Amino acid sequence: MLNEEIEILHRKVRLFDLESLGINQNKVIRDLKPTFEELPFDEHDVRVLGYSQRPFRSRAITGFILTKTKDSWLIKQEEVKVFSQTVEDKRASPRRFKRISQNVSNNPEFEKLLLGVAHLINLQCPGFNRLKFIAHQVRIFATPESKGSNSPEGIHKDGYDFVVPALVINRQGITGGESQIYGPDKEKLLFSATLQPGQALLHEDKNGPLYHQVTPIETTAGIDYGVRDIFGFDIKLV
Ligand SMILES: [Fe+2]
Repeated sequence: MLNEEIEILHRKVRLFDLESLGINQNKVIRDLKPTFEELPFDEHDVRVLGYSQRPFRSRAITGFILTKTKDSWLIKQEEVKVFSQTVEDKRASPRRFKRISQNVSNNPEFEKLLLGVAHLINLQCPGFNRLKFIAHQVRIFATPESKGSNSPEGIHKDGYDFVVPALVINRQGITGGESQIYGPDKEKLLFSATLQPGQALLHEDKNGPLYHQVTPIETTAGIDYGVRDIFGFDIKLV
């Protein structure tokens, strides 16, 4: 079980796993892994490879609003019709993505995950009654000819109160995909971890000094197609 609080530039970074949230890690990974096979290509992230162009990742997104009631939390799903980020790169332009499959968003263990993350945020920032999550289900793939990257924009922020840059569900046939945290100079590496299936990071984003990225993945020798499957959460306190 993993649930560590690490202090970086006087900010708390949480390194945790599903087990620590009371989730049956092996079962949820087994149940959710196949849903990554059906993810649609991210047509907004098409890059040139040799003489052709092709998407470099698959992705779907769904919004969740968590509202505190007297003694529990209510979770409501909402479609994210247009996604754009409050940042100063091309991620600010409106993008449309397919919705995450109901097999994922209605999975009770997935709801438990959202509640678990809300609880972790509450530990360092108590007193809120409402949270908005944008959940990203993403597959990054690599072939021997091309690496795959989930941070084509480089070291960045996402423009939200908190982020879970990655909760890893699957790493197969790859090396790389190292989660990294930097300070405002965006040069000195302050933290890095290669998250394994079931493991995740949580930290403050837009108002703090921390920036993040994930390094590209590449296939291991003799493998034709490697993948890194993750959920990422952008979280706003409302
Ligand atoms: Fe990010």
